[in-house]
Amino acid sequence: MIHRRLASPRILVPSAIVLAGLLSAGAKAQTTQLAATPPMGWNSWNHFAEKVTDADVRAAADAMVASGMRDAGYVYINVDDTWEGERDAQGNIHTNSKFPDMKGLADYVHSKGLKFGIYSSPGPKTCAGFEGSYGHEEQDANTYAAWGVDFLKYDLCGLRTIMDLYDPKQDPNKASAIMRDAYAKMHRALIKTGRPIVYSICQYGVDSVWEWGEEVGGNLWRTTDDISDSYRSMALIGFSQAGLERYAKPGHWNDPDMLEVGNGGMDADQYRTQMSLWAMLAAPLLAGNDLSRMDETTKGILMNKEVIAVDQDKLGQQGSRLGPPQVWVRTLADGAKAVAVFNFVTDDVPQPVTVRLKDLGFSGSVHARDLWTHKDLEPMHDSYTVTPPKGGVVMLRLWK
Ligand code: GLA
Repeated sequence: MIHRRLASPRILVPSAIVLAGLLSAGAKAQTTQLAATPPMGWNSWNHFAEKVTDADVRAAADAMVASGMRDAGYVYINVDDTWEGERDAQGNIHTNSKFPDMKGLADYVHSKGLKFGIYSSPGPKTCAGFEGSYGHEEQDANTYAAWGVDFLKYDLCGLRTIMDLYDPKQDPNKASAIMRDAYAKMHRALIKTGRPIVYSICQYGVDSVWEWGEEVGGNLWRTTDDISDSYRSMALIGFSQAGLERYAKPGHWNDPDMLEVGNGGMDADQYRTQMSLWAMLAAPLLAGNDLSRMDETTKGILMNKEVIAVDQDKLGQQGSRLGPPQVWVRTLADGAKAVAVFNFVTDDVPQPVTVRLKDLGFSGSVHARDLWTHKDLEPMHDSYTVTPPKGGVVMLRLWK
């Protein structure tokens, strides 16, 4: 049976709270190195959800290579919730019948030149009601390492019972400390295995995780509730990231949740908006569609190398919003700037938007390239005016 998680309570915690598990310098360096740019790959949840099987994951790995996505930078193949079986008498976690041989699956994924990711919860149960890692953190980390896992998504859900969040008398600071300890504990267990494993914190942004996610070892941390395959959900999540830019840097990224590109609930302009906005946000790019059934439009969006280059820019400086209207700018390692002009409101007639070059930090004229039409534009002077398509985006690279 699948138990959806309850709405996330928002509790405020003073930043002075004592953090358990501060990292050693060596562990910090390893953690940063693991995700020097935002992780790119695929995750089973958005399309397959609780139905995912070993065969689906192998097909995703095959398609990742055949489509060219691996060569475009998408390397993680991540199994989300519902792979878990029972624990044996020694407490070792086993898979359920949908995943007969996790080591065999990881080996298969690795044989394709890809990396393999898995999912668990710090609580006794996962969001879908399967076995979590509570009380078995080191044992599970060792199992993952023995299977060849390269990425762990660690999803709060079941820990809420341990945090006593359902008790109105519970002190929110105490509850938050339990949560932070649980995340730090699994990170220590991962480090102890000696295997580099990207650590993806998923707790929907509660208690301003961006302020402490790095200290508990996170390479990425979800900043919001779950995305769904609609323009409304994607836009609400994506455009609400303004202000979080100061928390992202190489090794440690804000995660506005996975891509919905290709899942069918949005049109191509709206999916271009997600791809562009996520690149401006230096967000992890985890495709969430059925890779074995992609049309050319979906491939073109997911594999736009010029947009991916913005996401993966080595400076790792997350973009910020200049608007409203929705004009976003991101400084790149070579001094160029990525600029994205979005049409935000789908039921209105798109209006022209004017961007002044001096507001972007340029003086004089600049060179410009359109990252969706893949064409150089005429040099720009003073300002640029464009009407992005309904629900869509115009994304440029500007340089002196
Ligand atoms: C939560 C997470 C999702 C997904 C599901 C799996 O809702 O936020 O991304 O992992 O759990 O049950």
